[in-house]
Amino acid sequence: MSQYEVKPISLAQLRTHKSSKWRDYDPDVLPLPVAEMDFPIADPIRDLLLEMVSNSDLGYLGPIPELGISFALFAQQRWGWVLDPLEVYASTDVGVGIVEILRLLTQPGDRVLLSSPIYHNFYTWVKETKVEKVDVPFLETSEGWAIDVAGIEAAYKTGIKVHLLCNPHNPLGRVYAREELLAIANLAQEHGVVVISDEIHAPLTFSESTFIPFLSIGDTAQSVGITVTAASKGWNIPGLKAAIIVTQNPAMAALMRDLPTALHYRASILGGFATVVAYEKGTQWLDGALRTLDSNRFFLKRLLEEQIPEIVYHVPNCSYLAWLDLSALKLGDNPSRTLLERGRLALSPGESFSPNTPQYVRFNFAASEEVLIEAVQRIRRCL
Ligand SMILES: Cc1ncc(COP(=O)(O)O)c(C=O)c1O
Repeated sequence: MSQYEVKPISLAQLRTHKSSKWRDYDPDVLPLPVAEMDFPIADPIRDLLLEMVSNSDLGYLGPIPELGISFALFAQQRWGWVLDPLEVYASTDVGVGIVEILRLLTQPGDRVLLSSPIYHNFYTWVKETKVEKVDVPFLETSEGWAIDVAGIEAAYKTGIKVHLLCNPHNPLGRVYAREELLAIANLAQEHGVVVISDEIHAPLTFSESTFIPFLSIGDTAQSVGITVTAASKGWNIPGLKAAIIVTQNPAMAALMRDLPTALHYRASILGGFATVVAYEKGTQWLDGALRTLDSNRFFLKRLLEEQIPEIVYHVPNCSYLAWLDLSALKLGDNPSRTLLERGRLALSPGESFSPNTPQYVRFNFAASEEVLIEAVQRIRRCL
């Protein structure tokens, strides 16, 4: 049987899109920053949306037990993670979910740990809730980026309320090993830290790696952990606005009851039910999208090796974001600005992920091979 293929939408059609990726820049700019895929959505999701729109079924999101049931089944089949559907709660999106959990668990001025470089909105969430950011950066080693467990322990000893974990990691494309998550869970229990695990990129883990849901590693993790995730990244539907929160421990579940009820009904009805369909019927599309992304991550590697070998690129183990070190290109203090001004190519600036990575850019390769070729040509134009 032939494999289901997910092929990118043409550039001409993408340029008519109304999303921020296609509206944030002038029309001559090739935009590869925002984490959206240039892929058509899965048919079952399209069918559901068409049906709801044509039935004028666009009211507020009410009870949706299907959310927990579909996620629990998907999590068990995909990752062997067993959870109770009743411990799954709806959230407006991942960002709003994390902000509301932070509001519940912290007072302004409390200390919250993160590890840079990290998805820039981790900083936004910390700022929004007026907590103090404690950064324990990843360590750059000859084998790639490593977590600093000793640094995390030292920080925990100084009094950390919440640890914001990006699992798998954006922008490093890194999947945590079970031992790493266990070490974090044990330390968190010892020092009274709550771990919020943002697992939005998890469905996009490539086959050579195993994604480990934080709560799946056992009682200790369940006693300290809260997972926030969504189908929005994996199935390319972030504009639909829906996410989920998962707990697996009575004390954590009790905490969840104190979250504002608005967190649920501020999610969109389209997003809530599209999420259910993604988990129930979206696996074939997801695997097709992963095959295209798998091919693209190596296509980009070959392109860079052939055309600009000075760029350092470790092929990611999940998702579609390449974290590129452009130091050797000498593009000035802010390479992403140079690329935008001179090459008309938009990439995410490294400094938005960490003050220590100004020479990096994040490159979204969920695009056609033609777009990737054009993007690399535009970088070359700046040299
Ligand atoms: C790690 C991570 N968390 C959260 C989000 C955003 O999620 P949401 O739109 O549901 O707030 C993104 C988007 O790229 C992300 O990479």
